[in-house]
Amino acid sequence: MNLKKFNSDYSSPMLSKRKKQIGLVMLLAGFIFACSSSLYVPKESTLYKKEVLNALQKGRAIYIKKCGGCHTLYIPEKYGTSQWRLQTERMAPKAKLTDQEKELILGYLTKNDSSKPN
Ligand code: HEC
Repeated sequence: MNLKKFNSDYSSPMLSKRKKQIGLVMLLAGFIFACSSSLYVPKESTLYKKEVLNALQKGRAIYIKKCGGCHTLYIPEKYGTSQWRLQTERMAPKAKLTDQEKELILGYLTKNDSSKPN
């Protein structure tokens, strides 16, 4: 009886600290997953020819480099093709893009999903 009380008193602070640690780790993992899953990474697949894949990978890299300085990066799924065209035109001078960089970014932002509305 006494021993049982002693045991549970002894172990509970340890347990709750451990639980907090696990919770924190899971929270962090969740954040990392959420971030990495939204900005899709083009990977080699039967869908992409080599040149298309290269362009998508370049586009993603330039997007991250040039468009994340002033605001958070918007996920490609946020807009359809015509909206992305408009927004990229609008932002190109702000980000000091060359025409080629603009096309690569636009390619990346609009290639992900052909099923979305224009
Ligand atoms: C020099 C800072 C700067 C850079 C670099 C920049 N933006 Fe922006 N962006 C802004 C500001 C400020 C706004 C909000 C005002 C506006 O919409 O014009 C904005 C708004 C946007 C919006 C509209 C968001 C909404 O909810 O209406 C999109 C989309 C966007 N930016 C995409 C981009 C892309 C793509 C790039 C890279 C080509 C980029 N931005 C680079 C400053 C920047």
